[in-house]
Amino acid sequence: MDSTLDIPDRLYADVVALRRDLHAHPELGFEEVRTAAIVANRLRGLGFEVHEGIATTGVVGVIRGPAPGRTIMLRADMDALPILEETSHAFRSTADGKMHACGHDGHVAILLGAAALIAERKHELAGTVCLVFQPAEEGRGGAKAMLEGGLIERFGIERAYGLHLSSNYPSGTLGFRSGPFYASSDSIEIEILGVGGHGSAPHFAVDPIYAAANFITSLQQVVARQIDPLEPAVVTIGSIHGGTIHNVIPRTVKMLGTARAFSDTVRRQMPERIERVLHACCDASGARYRFDYLMRYPVTENDASQAAYARALAERIVGVDRVFTADKLMGAEDFSFFAQRVPACFYTLGAAGGESTSVPHHSSLFDIDEAALPTGVAMMAALAFDAPFGAP
Ligand code: NI
Repeated sequence: MDSTLDIPDRLYADVVALRRDLHAHPELGFEEVRTAAIVANRLRGLGFEVHEGIATTGVVGVIRGPAPGRTIMLRADMDALPILEETSHAFRSTADGKMHACGHDGHVAILLGAAALIAERKHELAGTVCLVFQPAEEGRGGAKAMLEGGLIERFGIERAYGLHLSSNYPSGTLGFRSGPFYASSDSIEIEILGVGGHGSAPHFAVDPIYAAANFITSLQQVVARQIDPLEPAVVTIGSIHGGTIHNVIPRTVKMLGTARAFSDTVRRQMPERIERVLHACCDASGARYRFDYLMRYPVTENDASQAAYARALAERIVGVDRVFTADKLMGAEDFSFFAQRVPACFYTLGAAGGESTSVPHHSSLFDIDEAALPTGVAMMAALAFDAPFGAP
């Protein structure tokens, strides 16, 4: 294929308009009805074979080239977050308490922009390209739901690529990483069961707040003392609820937390070690507990040869100066489930163009530099056209 893919001005304007429309109408995970309808209509209009209602709101657009070749998937996640938007854009969220605060509006617009380029030059394609528009990336595992629905088998997918916009990197740059990229993310749910009583008479009660306080303080020893110091790991208790008033010892305390890791070994060590600390803290005061450790998202691990291939392709598309090695992130991505099934590369598209677009993801002020969008369109389309030359 050509070393560059020019994005016509009209297509750029269309991608920006689409992103703004999606931004104004955010939908939460598995509720992306409007978004999915826009995606399906657009794909149909471009001549894709369209499959809807996969894992509730997922959409897959299939296009086949005249020459034989691999079947690849390009993925965009569609969901927004339960955040009240505080930007002053004319196109800010019209849905109270919902916001595209992670850039998934941009992901959808980019992939639909690429769809237009791919359709226009369909005769140059070899093999099959599946555009996968996924619901519910934000914590609800839409990718896993699509896989459980037989996505890989149904479409014969052999390779997977996806991107994430990032306010941490300069606009229009592309970041790649081989091996572990995003952390695993699991959930901790705890209830400490004590015996309620009067605050003045703790000896007649079993105080779950005291046990919870001991647990939270002691918990960090799991990372500090029990995990290989060369392995990244995080344990955070993000929610604690117990009690109602000054002088009552409550019966229970509930806590929610998250555990992150970068290796399966560390991930597997977490539940038992966390529970051991919990057990000891409860035992010391005679409390009982309930402990749930929910395996959510695995480590997002890029295939080494796919990462090298995609990086080399990016260097041809945007030039070496705009390609960088992305840092590991303790955040998580459910693209990880696709990467467990087929050789895959997840990559970063920088979208920081100034102060207002350098705000952290999931902030109520989050925004992307739209000037980054054409780079995403070009890279996704390049992956489609270059598929036959991809790494083995
Ligand atoms: Ni995201």
